[in-house]
Amino acid sequence: MKRLTPFFFTLAFFTLFQSTIVVSDETQLIGVFGASGRTGTHIIEELKKRDVGIRAFSRSADQKDSLDALDWVYADVTDEESLSIALRDVDVIISAIGPVGGDNSEIVDYLGTINIVSAAKKNDVQQIIYMSSIGAGGAENISTVILNLFANKTMKWKALAEDEIRNSGISFTIVRPGGLVGETATQGIQFSQGDNVLGWIPRGDVAAVLVESIYKDGAKNKTFEVINDESLAVNAWRDEFDSLELNEYGKIATGELPIRYWLIPSMILLGVIYLIRRRRTRN
Ligand SMILES: NC(=O)c1ccc[n+]([C@@H]2O[C@H](COP(=O)([O-])OP(=O)(O)OC[C@H]3O[C@@H](n4cnc5c(N)ncnc54)[C@H](OP(=O)(O)O)[C@@H]3O)[C@@H](O)[C@H]2O)c1
Repeated sequence: MKRLTPFFFTLAFFTLFQSTIVVSDETQLIGVFGASGRTGTHIIEELKKRDVGIRAFSRSADQKDSLDALDWVYADVTDEESLSIALRDVDVIISAIGPVGGDNSEIVDYLGTINIVSAAKKNDVQQIIYMSSIGAGGAENISTVILNLFANKTMKWKALAEDEIRNSGISFTIVRPGGLVGETATQGIQFSQGDNVLGWIPRGDVAAVLVESIYKDGAKNKTFEVINDESLAVNAWRDEFDSLELNEYGKIATGELPIRYWLIPSMILLGVIYLIRRRRTRN
């Protein structure tokens, strides 16, 4: 019996070790682009409440390791090779990237997303959850028009990024928030489709919707807008994913000035010029 004791210990160790491996195999690994950003920080906090592995991506991952216990990995969305390595074993991507510094939306949102999708395909990623923006579905409200005018047609590039994801063949969820302000979880969240609403939502609420989309089948292959709505119960949105339609995303934003923004002022101007000239010829 004494001789058998080491054998039993070894057997017990391997049984325990194997069961640990099985558990970690089943735990999803979530890769977060934009993890260092203002929404990304909330996404990480949301994920920490769930039973998942987290890989946080940043271009300055080396400076972040000492800050917290997170697995920070270098990834630059403009460099596809860095993504192919960074995404190894990742099951779900959440992207909350956005241009910072000198980069623009075309480089970060559009070309960056092309690279993410390409690397995701190579790594058999199961779902891409993408933070876009109200306006990417062709909305013609004044704030979208101003953004397009002064931020390099940003909605065009977000719209094309969305389309790249929708056509990737990978299961996706595209969340389009309104203006990012406010305090987390103080109001209800309204879901809508077709890019016809305008409103505000705190970054923490957007993060909650992005993370919940991992767990809701009704979030798969959907594109939708999110804004705060004080008439709704704070957590009611968690049951709203099933009511969203597939293939409903409005239209692909062009970033051009909508016709009504220049046609009516031009007609008024022409009318004024005509009246002035008529007056002058009469005199
Ligand atoms: N402001 C609004 O009202 C509003 C409304 C709707 C939607 N949005 C959109 O929401 C998104 C998130 O906004 P936010 O304010 O939370 O973002 P943010 O704080 O500006 O953070 C941007 C993140 O993008 C990452 N990033 C930038 N270039 C990158 C690159 N080349 N490779 C990898 N990562 C890169 C940065 O990571 P590192 O620097 O660590 O690499 C950073 O974590 C943006 O796309 C924004 O346009 C904004």
